[in-house]
Amino acid sequence: MYHVMGIETSCDETSVSVMNSNSEVLSNSTFSQIDIHKKYGGVVPEIASKNHLKKILPVIDSSLSEAKKNIEDIDYLCVTNGPGLINCLMIGVATSKSIGLLQNIPVLPINHLEGHIASCFIENSISFPSICLVASGGHTNLYLLENENNFNLISSTRDDAAGEAFDKGAKILELGYPGGIEIDRLSKRGSNKFHSFPIPNLESDFDFSFSGLKTSLRYYVEKNKNWKDNINDISCCYQEAIVDSLLSKTVKAADKFKSKNILFAGGVACNSRLRDRAKEIFKNKAIFPSNQFCTDNGAMIAMRGLQKIKIKKTDYDNSFPVFSSTKITSNLNLD
Ligand code: KG4
Ligand code: ZN
Repeated sequence: MYHVMGIETSCDETSVSVMNSNSEVLSNSTFSQIDIHKKYGGVVPEIASKNHLKKILPVIDSSLSEAKKNIEDIDYLCVTNGPGLINCLMIGVATSKSIGLLQNIPVLPINHLEGHIASCFIENSISFPSICLVASGGHTNLYLLENENNFNLISSTRDDAAGEAFDKGAKILELGYPGGIEIDRLSKRGSNKFHSFPIPNLESDFDFSFSGLKTSLRYYVEKNKNWKDNINDISCCYQEAIVDSLLSKTVKAADKFKSKNILFAGGVACNSRLRDRAKEIFKNKAIFPSNQFCTDNGAMIAMRGLQKIKIKKTDYDNSFPVFSSTKITSNLNLD
């Protein structure tokens, strides 16, 4: 039995998890900066990195003590290395490398999006091939998973991400930041028949687009001066359009690739309407991580690290550079 620590600092969550080699989460401690960034209406990168710097060591300490482990018990450090905010990633990577050097622990750089995919494996056993939708504040990607190592990118969004559509929609509706959870909450009291927001029908089979939807919400609000009287219904219809779009592409991909499981990851996978409708459509083939593993967290990074360590146990080089952009693992030929 060995132990890995997952460290996530790519955006506004400082999160650290200790996981054993049986994929059991011994701790998953998260300091969320949402309350700090709320007043700015979005994440301010410089403020985010300063808070990571303040919190990273206390969060590592609390994660170790919750897991009833010492740093000497950790065999591998796994740290998010892109995509993300560069000055935030640097805090996690520099801290991991320093601890690695002092304690002689190998450090593995982990792609944040692969981490989101891996979150689905923490509590579930997955059959292959399977399709995974990663829908977060920065990305909306579909992947074909051949096994627990090969994740092939099928499609992504041409403009806004699904989480961004929720957040920008919430801003127009004056619901504060981040908006996804608030739109989700109000929608439960609204009707999805009140108004029909457009879902783009892109030529490509699997690509997403959300910027037109946000614009149509803005026009709706400008035209209908009493929109606040119907905030629950408007939220519900706006959410319905996002969920429709996500699911229609996911269904197509699941059919095309004869998917045995359909996985949902990223912050938007917390959405209750997406969860309910996906379970109606895909029944027990639909896999959703519990909410704490959907939004950014250290456990998903530890899980992805574990999948890599199972293939390669030694010879890690701790001298890797920090990457802020997405490194796509591979692209499928869809013709
Ligand atoms: O994965 P995540 O924590 O961070 C990124 O990697 O971006 O995702 C954050 C996104 C935000 O846009 C937030 O509004 C959205 O996830 N989100 C939700 C819900 N909870 C979080 N969107 C819809 N419904 C929710 N319940
Ligand atoms: Zn994320």
